[in-house]
Amino acid sequence: MIERIAELRGQAEAEIAAAGSAEALQELRVRYLGRKAELPQMLRGVARLAPELRGAVGKAANQARQALDALIEQRSSQLGGEELHERLRADRVDVTLPGAPAQPVGRLHLLTTMRRELEDIFLGLGFTVMEGPEIESVHYNFDALNHSPTHPARARTDTFYIARPDLLAPSEPRPGQPPSPLAAEELVLRTHTSPMQVRAMEAHPPPLYVVIPGRVYRPDSDATHTPQFHQIEGLAVDEDITLADLKGTLLMFARAVFGDRRDVRLRPHFFPFTEPSVEVDVSCFHCAGSGFLRDGARCPLCKGEGWLEVLGAGEVDPNVYSHVPTSEANAPGYDPEKVQGFAWGMGVERIAMLKHGVPDLRLYYENDLRFLEQF
Ligand code: PHE
Repeated sequence: MIERIAELRGQAEAEIAAAGSAEALQELRVRYLGRKAELPQMLRGVARLAPELRGAVGKAANQARQALDALIEQRSSQLGGEELHERLRADRVDVTLPGAPAQPVGRLHLLTTMRRELEDIFLGLGFTVMEGPEIESVHYNFDALNHSPTHPARARTDTFYIARPDLLAPSEPRPGQPPSPLAAEELVLRTHTSPMQVRAMEAHPPPLYVVIPGRVYRPDSDATHTPQFHQIEGLAVDEDITLADLKGTLLMFARAVFGDRRDVRLRPHFFPFTEPSVEVDVSCFHCAGSGFLRDGARCPLCKGEGWLEVLGAGEVDPNVYSHVPTSEANAPGYDPEKVQGFAWGMGVERIAMLKHGVPDLRLYYENDLRFLEQF
């Protein structure tokens, strides 16, 4: 019997060593160690053997069973390692390869690129960038900017007013108490970025050089007006700032955006918060300012004018400084006798339109990829 055990053990050991898969091993386990297999049968039969045989046979069978069990375990983990290795080899993916087909990547909207280009130009000239609220008080949007109480821009047809039920219809004023002063203050969607002039001065002492990009709102809608558009406000306040500084600054801007050979001109205009006020034109880059193309045709971009209107500007009206209360944040404050400054407001849509020949402002907001992907 001992011999038979040794024979079985030798045979099983050879087969286990040769097994090539987990299934094959499982089969061997059943064949040699399963309930009906010979070796376990012998173990169970030990009790029926002659007493002098029991010890030796039991020991040999037990050792054989334990040895085979361990061998199967060992071969099994060895096979598992090999299988894993093989799977890793076969599944190897090079994540650095381009996708197939290459996937289109997103891009920035033309208005975003344009805004950033403009910010960069003014950052390069020493301005810093600030932002401000789109929901604005009538105080900052109009009053502090010198708009008379009857200025047409205040009309409900020209400005989006915001109904705030909490402020406009206050709960019953308590007996003996005046109604909340807030109830008197109306809110608007800012119609320009100029309210940030006063806010910027309230927050920082002179000298001040800031540009303020942001959304503005007016109830207009046609090919050259959308109810929401973008402006970049500029404000420089220091001592001895003249209109010549404004012109030099805007000349740099015009050349950076439209080309080295551009010129700018100032035309008299009116804004309530600048004095003098100007409209600023850039010489037309399509016809080099002549108004006519080489073949003699009238330039379609400037309509033969030779100039393109790009923005409104002026010297800050001294009266605006009087709306800037002196505080700890802006000490020594803005004394109209001591400081001077200039300001401008440009439309981002308009500049991008001129620069890239965009025929209709609404294209910016229709999300048609055929349009957006050109920039
Ligand atoms: N806020 C004016 C507008 O929207 C533009 C402007 C800004 C004019 C600053 C002068 C100075 O039309």
